Amino acid sequence: MQRDIALIKLGGSVITHKENPLTINRIAIGRILKTLSSIKIPIILVHGGGSFGHYWSIKYDMHSKPERYSSEGISVVHESMILLNDILVKSMLKLKMKPYSVPPFSFLSGKKIILKKINELASMTRDEIIPITYGDIVYRSPHKYSILSGDELMTIISYVLRPRKIIFVANVDGIYKDPNAKEIVQKIEGKSSIKFSGVNFDITGGMKRKVREALKISRSGMDVHIVNGFKPDRLLKILENRKTEGTVIKGKRSSTGNA
Ligand code: IPE
Repeated sequence: MQRDIALIKLGGSVITHKENPLTINRIAIGRILKTLSSIKIPIILVHGGGSFGHYWSIKYDMHSKPERYSSEGISVVHESMILLNDILVKSMLKLKMKPYSVPPFSFLSGKKIILKKINELASMTRDEIIPITYGDIVYRSPHKYSILSGDELMTIISYVLRPRKIIFVANVDGIYKDPNAKEIVQKIEGKSSIKFSGVNFDITGGMKRKVREALKISRSGMDVHIVNGFKPDRLLKILENRKTEGTVIKGKRSSTGNA
């Protein structure tokens, strides 16, 4: 059974100007949050690093592979994510939303996921609170740390909570059929996932990671949406079960009629 929760990832390339270090996209943040503040569905938010966390993780050469990294880099990446998170939290408060910031450190222990803490995120939504977490540098094992992306957090939280709506808010319309046509794939059936990793799709860089996680989630029976964050009306339509532009990867065992 899926829970009545919308799990939404705000991509770093939507909420920040990825090409300019440490700059936020206030307009995009404002428009998305305004949309989210207008809906009644319980929400859990995840956000990426964009020109904050990514900028520093590149500078300090830190990756998703657990390794010994510069302790200064660990502090700086984490601080930059707290800063970005704080900007989002303050913007939400201004809109009378009830955010509660949760660093991923608090629901992970090394490779283990602390199920109880993730379940508590769901409980909090029943008090109108919007838990908001983020990709970060996390402790893995003695002396080893790794970058845990917001996309991976989407998979972790989805597996545990099985939210009714799982949405990746990206800086593109969805998954493109081919890079030149600029036409997106509206719907991907679970079955087509093998072809999906082939050359037919323009899946590069950040999008590739997103799609890999989205596929993992869909394989456990949940639909996953990818939608353009610069067109918040589309996000609203997905939340209201209305048809809109974007890609939906259908969950393999899904029986819901989501658009
Ligand atoms: C990145 O999270 C976190 C850090 C680099 C610390 P994501 O990988 O999910 O960020 P975006 O959405 O691609 O920017």
